[in-house]
Amino acid sequence: MNSKDRKKKILLLPGDGIGPEVFAPVMKILEHIVKTGQIALEWEEGLIGGIATDRTGYPLPPETLEKADRSDAVLLGAVGGPKYDTLPYDKRPERALLGIREHLGVFANLRPARLFPELAASSTLKPEVISDLDLIVVRELTGGIYFGKPRGIFEESGVRRGVNTETYTEPEIVRILRVAFDLARKRRKRVTSVDKANVLESSALWREVAVSVHKDYPDVELSHMYVDNAAMQLVRNPKQFDVLVTGNLFGDILSDEAAQLTGSIGMLASASIGGKTGLYEPIHGSAPDIAGKDMANPLAMILSLALLFRYSLDREDLAENIESAARTVLKDGVRTVDIQGKGTKKIVGTREMGERVFSALSKS
Ligand code: IPM
Ligand code: MG
Repeated sequence: MNSKDRKKKILLLPGDGIGPEVFAPVMKILEHIVKTGQIALEWEEGLIGGIATDRTGYPLPPETLEKADRSDAVLLGAVGGPKYDTLPYDKRPERALLGIREHLGVFANLRPARLFPELAASSTLKPEVISDLDLIVVRELTGGIYFGKPRGIFEESGVRRGVNTETYTEPEIVRILRVAFDLARKRRKRVTSVDKANVLESSALWREVAVSVHKDYPDVELSHMYVDNAAMQLVRNPKQFDVLVTGNLFGDILSDEAAQLTGSIGMLASASIGGKTGLYEPIHGSAPDIAGKDMANPLAMILSLALLFRYSLDREDLAENIESAARTVLKDGVRTVDIQGKGTKKIVGTREMGERVFSALSKS
């Protein structure tokens, strides 16, 4: 039996807030795909975030990491909630997210921002600015200021000082740039490297290394942009971008901005790769304000499952089926509240949106 035929295993981590709600349709889709013999796949569930703290005392219990280690891919909902905001820093649900990314070594976070044409009128930007938008943010995910040392809150002569460190080694920059160039080769062959090289040494090195890695990719065009300008260009003329590659913090910020171009943060899925096991999660958070209200848009979660099939299980066909089912539902004018606008025929909740995608998928 070659590795392609081996039964694959995935770990499901619904997490907190709207996480479990947006996960429900994913479970149904998975069951359907397996039951109809489209893939040999099994899964187990695990705890992460606030719910894990409630049950075990830790936001990222060792058992979750063990389960992740024996999986081919991990699908994650969201973590966090007001109940946990007053916990000490290392018990915060967000630490679990950073912890699992670090543990899996998934240094490359791909955040594709592609506009479904049906949603052109749902964005806050003019349709002509965003129509046919198709860019991808490649965010470095296991380095930079999120992990750099020293970090902490220190006290000196009665004055407290909060410290974080932006740091990138040359090999870290090389490997993320390679991911970006490789991706660009399968797309429109344009990479924009985003930095703050006019001020930060870590960025100056980033830019220098980008130029030297580029020598291996003469067929791809490389340009550089300062992050403040990139933030502006994203709303001014986002279609100039194909692949945007940047560090952890800049990527965090720019990918939320890119999400809004596609209508709503409820639309953007992400894939974190480069380690042994891929991690897939919507870029939205746990949205405690709407949790339990059947209001959340499950599409980013469902589209994250599509990315899992694409990048970790090498099943482009299943990824495309899911994406086209989502498209069908949008074409029918069905929308959750966050993506309502011109062309909306029916506003639905999380459950019904999930049902609609499921039924489009099971008919295809
Ligand atoms: C994201 C989120 C996380 C991050 C938070 C929740 C820790 O904003 O995935 O973009 O900053 O990476
Ligand atoms: Mg973010």
